[in-house]
Amino acid sequence: MRVTTTVNGTERTADDVWPGESLLFLLRERLGLPGAKNACEQGECGSCTVYLDGEPVCACLVAAGQAIGREVTTVEGLADGTALHPVQEAFVDAGAVQCGFCTPGLVVAAHDLLARVPEPSDPEIREALAGNLCRCTGYEKVLDAVRLAARRQAAQ
Ligand code: FES
Ligand code: FES
Repeated sequence: MRVTTTVNGTERTADDVWPGESLLFLLRERLGLPGAKNACEQGECGSCTVYLDGEPVCACLVAAGQAIGREVTTVEGLADGTALHPVQEAFVDAGAVQCGFCTPGLVVAAHDLLARVPEPSDPEIREALAGNLCRCTGYEKVLDAVRLAARRQAAQ
């Protein structure tokens, strides 16, 4: 099957896609975008979170064929060239990254939260990130990063 989809603003095509192939496999293995991570492949960890037509999804649970003719944005697409997105920058500045495996999914989830709720409360942050598992940070630095990104966004 041929899959043509818009990824980070550019139309991309992959051939010989297997009908059961995931969007995550398509992005990582065929389109050279390793930002979304493959940890559980069961929709449990959120490390593969990307936007599909503006909605965050677990790319491991979406068939590649479902992305035909649609818009995908990955963590790579949030940056402006070499300039990190403010949410990405906040994760760096807050020290919210250890092994980094969960980080792309958390960044996309935080980006989505701050687009919907510019000044979220702590319970709102925890709720929004509940589907993203991190085995390293204990989440406190992750919360710091989202608070920092929200403060910077409000100050702009
Ligand atoms: S790899 Fe998709 S949710 Fe864990
Ligand atoms: S930083 Fe290692 S899993 Fe989150």
